[in-house]
Amino acid sequence: MFECIPRHVGVIMDGNGRWAQLRGLPRVEGHKRGAERTKDIIRAANEIGIGYLTLYAFSLENWQRPEEEVFSLMDLLKKYLIYEIKELLEEGIGFRAIGDLERLPADVQVLLRKSEEMTAGSPGLVVVLALSYGGRNEIIRAVRKVVELGLRPEDIDEDTFVNLLDTRGMPPVDLVIRTSGEKRLSNFLLWQAAYGELYFTDTLWPDFTKEEFLFAIQDFQRRERRFGAVMP
Ligand code: FPP
Repeated sequence: MFECIPRHVGVIMDGNGRWAQLRGLPRVEGHKRGAERTKDIIRAANEIGIGYLTLYAFSLENWQRPEEEVFSLMDLLKKYLIYEIKELLEEGIGFRAIGDLERLPADVQVLLRKSEEMTAGSPGLVVVLALSYGGRNEIIRAVRKVVELGLRPEDIDEDTFVNLLDTRGMPPVDLVIRTSGEKRLSNFLLWQAAYGELYFTDTLWPDFTKEEFLFAIQDFQRRERRFGAVMP
């Protein structure tokens, strides 16, 4: 089980709204339960030695949701950053945020920066929250940096370009997990997951357990990754 652990796992935590609606609850209750779930998955990922766990917590497209839901999600995120980060720190877990962070409320941006600073140099797993994130937007922002830096065409290759993405310093994504039965990437880590293995499950995110997470990792370990080449 602990052989061939993916270095970087991305998770599209989908199905919170449906989970709540099925129970006649407001959507925000699904998000609350979903946030609880992330804790179990973070701990499991740290236990088995995954390096980076990127969680798609709020996409650029999510800004179009009703104001009340956006507000509840921001509120949940603030509470999460205030109360959970301390626990993560005690467990040696690091934290980073990626996305078009300048669009987030100022108090959330401050909490994100503080959380990153507090956990910098943590020895364990790094939890990466993708917030106000879109893969195409990330690539466009990287291209803007190329122009701002005045780089010449011959200066640009994949190695220089990856250092301009939000995920600089992180390995490529080995595995993307998406819950709730949808089978698409929805603008998540488009560059980083180019050769990522995909794992889809019908389970709604608030019902996604540590056991199913470990099952997804085992499923990944059985895949034959050729990266476009042929096996010797
Ligand atoms: C997708 O479910 C989920 C989101 C848009 C937000 C994900 C947020 C959380 C798991 C909670 C917050 C996390 C942290 C770390 C504070 P959906 O609303 O699209 O569900 P649906 O497709 O069933 O409507």
